[in-house]
Amino acid sequence: MATWAAVVLAAGKGVRMNSALPKVLHRVCGREMVRHVVEAVRAVHQGPVVIVVSPDSQAVRQCLGDSVEYVEQPEPRGTGDAVARAERLLVDRAQHLLVLYGDTPLLTSSTLSRLMEWHEATGAVLTLVTFDGVAPKGLGRIVRDAEGQVVAVVEEAEARGKQKAITEVNGGVYGFQAEWLWPALGGLAPSSTGELYLTALVASASREGLPVESVSCQEPGELLGVNNRVQLAQAEQAMRQRVLERWMLAGVTITDPASTYVDEGVVLGRDTVIFPNTTVAGATRVGERCHLGPGAMVFDSTIGDDCKVVASMVEGAVLEEAVHVGPFAHLRPGAYLEREVHVGNYAEVKNSRIGRGTKMGHFSYVGDAEVGRDVNIGAGTITCNYDGVRHHRTVIGDGAFIGSDTMLVAPVRVGAGASTGAGAVVTRDVPPDSLAVGMPARPRAKGRPRERGQPRVGK
Ligand code: UD1
Ligand code: MG
Repeated sequence: MATWAAVVLAAGKGVRMNSALPKVLHRVCGREMVRHVVEAVRAVHQGPVVIVVSPDSQAVRQCLGDSVEYVEQPEPRGTGDAVARAERLLVDRAQHLLVLYGDTPLLTSSTLSRLMEWHEATGAVLTLVTFDGVAPKGLGRIVRDAEGQVVAVVEEAEARGKQKAITEVNGGVYGFQAEWLWPALGGLAPSSTGELYLTALVASASREGLPVESVSCQEPGELLGVNNRVQLAQAEQAMRQRVLERWMLAGVTITDPASTYVDEGVVLGRDTVIFPNTTVAGATRVGERCHLGPGAMVFDSTIGDDCKVVASMVEGAVLEEAVHVGPFAHLRPGAYLEREVHVGNYAEVKNSRIGRGTKMGHFSYVGDAEVGRDVNIGAGTITCNYDGVRHHRTVIGDGAFIGSDTMLVAPVRVGAGASTGAGAVVTRDVPPDSLAVGMPARPRAKGRPRERGQPRVGK
């Protein structure tokens, strides 16, 4: 069996992005472009993967980690120069090289395997993927002879006369015979821009009478190379459509794909329904039969089965099963909501565990707290967790009843079964099964405010 190694080019300056961030780290559906490319490669190739990076490549290395190897290109002297840098790492390690660019995030593994199979089957020294049907501006044109054989790739800067009108273009994905490639790279002459073009190898092989083959890609959008932010937005749109279609076919209802944004890498359960204007992003997992939206924003969160999130922001949170959130709630990092919790409108939870069945229906803030089971948190309850210097914890026991507008001045504990009266400012611990009222709150005879004839707001 033939052996392969892959080389991904990621050392270009990305000048056309006009960005402080390296081009290949710009994200498409939440994932860095170069990571999309490496994952497509990994799906069909288990051997070495070498990333060609610039000397200030810390961020790229951080993004891809040590599952790949790196080699530096000291100056961005062109794609031909970039590939040549990989020789010292790869010489004698593979018979064939798969060469790709880090700015083609839509590339699929099925196109890669078609390329690899055709390259091996034909014995070509060079096989490239071409496509047609998009505006060729900025891309290398495929020049064929009378027999239809590929004889050259002409870059935009070099294209003259009729060549400019050629619509078949180079996708930037290649198979090479390694023993032909390394010496051939040494023979590359600088182009009119001073760069060494990898694509000039097509003409070199053709001149030597060596076989060059091509595979055409039927989906022109798949080979969109992202050089500027207009193309970045086009890639985002195409990838988004692809991700949504995958989930719809897997049993997720998306009522309005045009206003639904799901990152690559998100996991959605069967029979979940996503309503319009909803974003599900980052490392998020959503269970079965959930309703998200309209207007839900879910980032880096885990949501169990049968949950509902309406017009709310959920970030870095965990929701167990049958949790209802919103409308207009904000769950912030570290919010952990056990089964059947209800967090209603204008409520915020941060770094807190809320026990099973607890209800927090209306405009409240719970931060740095541990709230037990079946607690009622009345409208306007605030955990005053920050004294201007440090954050402090609030602990509320099972079955407690926190009256409307209670201020819990942390650190403070409200015991299990205890109650606070409306407007209580709780500065001291409230013992279990007791009642505290007033400002500052004082203990009162046992019994819940509602049993003592006080109105109960915020059930
Ligand atoms: C390239 C191809 C063009 C093809 C198009 C497809 C060449 C000369 N041209 O043009 O035929 O149609 O891709 O998208 O190859 N890079 C380096 N070092 C460098 C220069 C570039 O690592 O010195 C990397 C870039 O980071 C990028 C990739 O190589 O990931 C491609 O470079 P780019 O400048 O985007 O080439 P294009 O102009 O798009
Ligand atoms: Mg490009």
